[in-house]
Amino acid sequence: MSVFLGVDIGTSGAKTLVMDARGAILSEASATYPLYHPKPLWSEQDPEDWWRASVKTIRSAVRKAKVKPADVKAIGLSGQMHGSVFLDKNNRVVRRALLWNDQRTAAECDEIERRAGGRRQLIRMVANPALSGFTAPKILWLRNREPRNFDKTVKVLLPKDDVRRRMTGEFATDVSDASGMLLLDIAKRKWSKKLLSKLELDESLLAECFESDAVTGQLTRQAAKQLGLTTDCKVVGGAGDCAANAVGTGVVKKGILSTSIGTSGVMFVHSDEVQIDPAGRLHTFCHAVPGKWHMMGVSLTAGGALQWFVDSLCADLKASDPYELLNREAAAVPPGSEGLLFLPYLAGERTPHADPHARGCFVGLTLKHTRGHMARAIMEGVTFAMRDSLAIIAELGVPVRQVRTSGGGSKSDLWRQLQADVFGKKAVTINAEQGPAYGVALLAAVGAGEFKSVPEACAATIHVVSETATQRKVKAVYDRAFPLYQGLYKSLRGDFQSISQQFG
Ligand code: XUL
Repeated sequence: MSVFLGVDIGTSGAKTLVMDARGAILSEASATYPLYHPKPLWSEQDPEDWWRASVKTIRSAVRKAKVKPADVKAIGLSGQMHGSVFLDKNNRVVRRALLWNDQRTAAECDEIERRAGGRRQLIRMVANPALSGFTAPKILWLRNREPRNFDKTVKVLLPKDDVRRRMTGEFATDVSDASGMLLLDIAKRKWSKKLLSKLELDESLLAECFESDAVTGQLTRQAAKQLGLTTDCKVVGGAGDCAANAVGTGVVKKGILSTSIGTSGVMFVHSDEVQIDPAGRLHTFCHAVPGKWHMMGVSLTAGGALQWFVDSLCADLKASDPYELLNREAAAVPPGSEGLLFLPYLAGERTPHADPHARGCFVGLTLKHTRGHMARAIMEGVTFAMRDSLAIIAELGVPVRQVRTSGGGSKSDLWRQLQADVFGKKAVTINAEQGPAYGVALLAAVGAGEFKSVPEACAATIHVVSETATQRKVKAVYDRAFPLYQGLYKSLRGDFQSISQQFG
């Protein structure tokens, strides 16, 4: 028997699934780990926690699937993108990793644009502008602010690639995840020597770059023992969680838009050639399909906004599932939340504002508003934030025939309906619900020769199972509210700056 593992190193936890050769999921396991916010705009995690959670979930998923260690032919790795694992010459982690939603690097983003010879030049070299969540600004931050730690650093790895290093002993990455470091020549799918030299960074700091379905190594003896697997088990390139989710939802050809509501919200479209948003609002990255690319818009706090609401304000709710309760309360509130709007910029915002200082807020509160209104306004605000990305995708002439919803947030009937109504397009779900972990299990199966190509693997395993139609009258409410939502950021932008200056 041949089975494949998909391991996803997320922000709230790690998830492993075991998939058979026909794409059926045999078992799953997950484990959580802490997220640290030492200062208001900072976001960090400990790479040791990722490894511990990987070991735990792999062992548990394999045990539950009742397969033999030798049945596990290959592993695919997916993970939160852009995080920086700084390693010293003895492979010891130098400090906690800075994450994708960390906003401390505004000055370094300016420095990168200056060194590159301006924003246009930078976009020409790496297809994207400098955004505070990307990896290159984090490396410069270490050099500028913690020079002793920088001097010790000999490698910078992405989160899933540090897990790979512990599995295979190799320093390797894949083109989709590497794209988010802001150091990859996206068109050539190779590190940009030109930008590296302008930033005075040595290429030896970076891992070797592979296509997502390529085998990058096999388990070391020590890792095989720790994971309860064999040294014949291969590890493929894998993908950043956005591209991995796209593979796991079958978004490997033109015309389909994948919307994912996890901690962040992602609007993702496949592209057969390198297509760049000249204004730099959408990211252009390599896809996990060899030789293809994708564009995406990222809302930094999506499901994370509702999670914040539950954790900070509903902790003493006497409900076994607070999300279920909030969904029920929110569903009873009319569309538009009776004039309550929510800006979900709790960790600054990426698309379309690229503003680390943006803040979250409720606007329009009255005495009439309840907890249910607030929950609904959060879901509506997040969906509006994602519509901002959809508007840019439409402006660039990228065709969207179908919207595929995924991620924890889309499991809510209400949030799927909101997407169909706010986007004005039918929202479909597919049979596989595990997004990134499923996507990289498919990449592992391709790498091990079980399928000929990534699109072939997707075609054989993924199909639409449900459709949520747009409600015309509700869409009209949201079409009227959307410009209001968009106007609020414009009105408040200056105030966000002042708040940041005063309070850090
Ligand atoms: C993508 C991004 C996020 C993280 C979260 O650019 O920053 O989606 O990958 O997991």
